Amino acid sequence: MSYGAVLDVPHAVRSRRIVVVGSGYVGLTLGASLALLGHEVKCTDKSVDRVAQLAEGRVPIVEEGLTELVGEMLAAGRLRFCVDNVLAAAWAEFVFLCLPTPNGADGRADFSGVQAVAVEIGPQLRPGATVIIKSTVPVGTGEMLESALARSDVHVASNPEFLAEGSALKDCLLPDRIVIGARSDTVARDVADLYGPFGYSRTIFTDVASAELIKYASNAYLATRLTFVNSMAELCEAVGADIRSVMAGMGSDHRIGDAFLQPGPGWGGSCLPKDTQALVRIAERFGCDLALVKTAIARNAHHTQRVVDKVTTALDGDVSGRRIALWGLTFKAGTDDLRSSPALEIAQRLVALGASVQAYDPTVPAGSLHGMEVHSAALSACKDADALIIGTEWPEFASVDLTALAAVMGGRSIVDARNLLDPVAAAGEGFSYAGIGIPATGERFAQVAV
Ligand code: UDX
Repeated sequence: MSYGAVLDVPHAVRSRRIVVVGSGYVGLTLGASLALLGHEVKCTDKSVDRVAQLAEGRVPIVEEGLTELVGEMLAAGRLRFCVDNVLAAAWAEFVFLCLPTPNGADGRADFSGVQAVAVEIGPQLRPGATVIIKSTVPVGTGEMLESALARSDVHVASNPEFLAEGSALKDCLLPDRIVIGARSDTVARDVADLYGPFGYSRTIFTDVASAELIKYASNAYLATRLTFVNSMAELCEAVGADIRSVMAGMGSDHRIGDAFLQPGPGWGGSCLPKDTQALVRIAERFGCDLALVKTAIARNAHHTQRVVDKVTTALDGDVSGRRIALWGLTFKAGTDDLRSSPALEIAQRLVALGASVQAYDPTVPAGSLHGMEVHSAALSACKDADALIIGTEWPEFASVDLTALAAVMGGRSIVDARNLLDPVAAAGEGFSYAGIGIPATGERFAQVAV
């Protein structure tokens, strides 16, 4: 992506000294973006290796535009990396906490990492500094942070991140909205100022608890919406309707909107599964039963299993001993992230059923992974395969040469869990094609095709 558009927007940013604790996917994107906006930024990380790597401009994640931006900001001297939180915090006017909040065994978000850093940096902060929690944390964390910092002369704010992997820089620099929760207007406005041109036009100022909840509510809504879409796809298959037409019709209602309506193998990734579980636990703690979100979680597993069932049906009811090619391992395209990936889950279920899985993903190195072979090219993964599954929507799969595919595969079954291929073209090459929510013929009703 080009971030030139951001700099074209006339704005004046008062350069501030900012520390970002945690140089993972969120912290790194935020740190590089704040440097681009004109701030002096130090990103810290407890991993010495990661800091050394980043200080040389080597970015260990796949995220469009990030390597280039980090390199430019390092060269400009506005972005630095270090290990020592305490030294960095003593220098900072603003400290963003971008630390992981994994789920504990009971599904609750574990924010002990955030707490530990607060205790560590609290005594060193400059009077008047502001500590901003960016990680997704349970309602009430703002108060916990205040007591862990143990400083009446520093401020606390909540400013949740809404970055989606694959579009993180765009989401950070051209956000739909910025949410800032703080006890005082002055603190909230100081935080908004950091974002330059968007600090006010797209900012929602709230109390801290509401800011914390907005993030969970957004992710739970997105997850529930996708479970609804996948349930409609299942119904389309039963009644002979076409999910592509149904979603085109639904999405054109401005109250619904057409984004986030693609059926698939279930939702995954580092956020939706973790945050839906955590929200259910938060609600329980306050005596509320989020039955709708619980159902969305349970049905999501069912939709992943449906892909396994489709392959099993295509292979006459038994995958054991069969050779199955899988295109895509990441939880979605545009990232190398395998966390809670439905494609990976499908592969593992097939391996457990005795299938031999040959996978390919543009971001996953060749070798063996969880009992399957990973190949370095899409067609080599299909050699002698009885069936092919498309698990991730990488664009290169959509433009595959179907004749070449037919020549290398042993069987003629395609299960397209992303509705990426043209079913009619696949049928033309002799494939039996099963998408998600698409009638067996695969033909799209002419009037809806746009
Ligand atoms: C999500 C939120 O979108 C983001 O705001 C938050 O900060 C972090 O969590 P991310 O996990 O990067 O971002 O992925 P997202 O694009 O939301 O996709 C989540 C899952 O839904 C993926 O498995 C994806 O394949 C699936 N999905 C998404 C669909 O199946 N259909 C769609 O139409 C959109």
